[in-house]
Amino acid sequence: MHTLQVDLGARSYPIYIGRGLLSQGELLRQHLAGRQVMIVSNETVAPLYLDRVAAALGEVTHETVILPDGEQYKNLETLNRIFDALLEHRFERSCTLVALGGGVVGDMTGFAAACYQRGVAFIQIPTTLLAQVDSSVGGKTGVNHPLGKNMIGAFHQPRCVIADTDTLDTLPDRELSAGLAEVIKYGLIRDADFLAWLEDNMDALLARDHAALAHAIEQSCRN
Ligand SMILES: NC(=O)c1ccc[n+]([C@@H]2O[C@H](COP(=O)([O-])OP(=O)(O)OC[C@H]3O[C@@H](n4cnc5c(N)ncnc54)[C@H](O)[C@@H]3O)[C@@H](O)[C@H]2O)c1
Repeated sequence: MHTLQVDLGARSYPIYIGRGLLSQGELLRQHLAGRQVMIVSNETVAPLYLDRVAAALGEVTHETVILPDGEQYKNLETLNRIFDALLEHRFERSCTLVALGGGVVGDMTGFAAACYQRGVAFIQIPTTLLAQVDSSVGGKTGVNHPLGKNMIGAFHQPRCVIADTDTLDTLPDRELSAGLAEVIKYGLIRDADFLAWLEDNMDALLARDHAALAHAIEQSCRN
């Protein structure tokens, strides 16, 4: 496992990168704010990985919100489903939201966490390469408005990011390519050595070699 520390003073947080991290329950449990946990996922990712996250929570009970899948649902109406679930289950300020999915789920869960009771804890479990290298890191959260993408949002830092490269095994090729495009962009803009490494290792990345993916994610998160 690679661990990167994002240094933001009191809001610093670790990014864990590697295989099998969803089975290491302690990684998740040590960052919970209290005993109320809401897992937010979508109808594609939940059937694949929700059980693993639930098992990682061990004896900590949780509630779940499953959102429809797609950028077109990244809006205030869908966001309200998260607030409905939090209020119906009487979640308090000491709760933790866990985002399990790609950038859409991560952005919406983070924004819900920024707003609910003026701000509660949240944890990112990104399951697309794009989310692992970009959207889960940096604290930008939000939803779209009919008049503009990502126009309603807030900065809200996660307590940790758990990037389990095993989740990339089920990612459609198109989504893998979208993530790799972002990784190449980091190389082009900021890091010639990394760009050369990418050229040498592109076949391994396309074949979803886990060591290569973990290295690419780590380098991208550093940039
Ligand atoms: N907050 C930020 O800084 C930031 C940065 C970049 C992009 N974004 C946002 O991220 C979003 C795009 O994120 P994305 O590319 O992850 O798209 P996405 O969240 O829509 O995921 C892409 C597709 O892959 C599916 N999926 C996710 N994980 C999977 C897995 N492990 N196996 C199989 N299918 C899986 C999803 O259900 C979805 O159908 C956009 O809304 C964009 O605005 C935010």
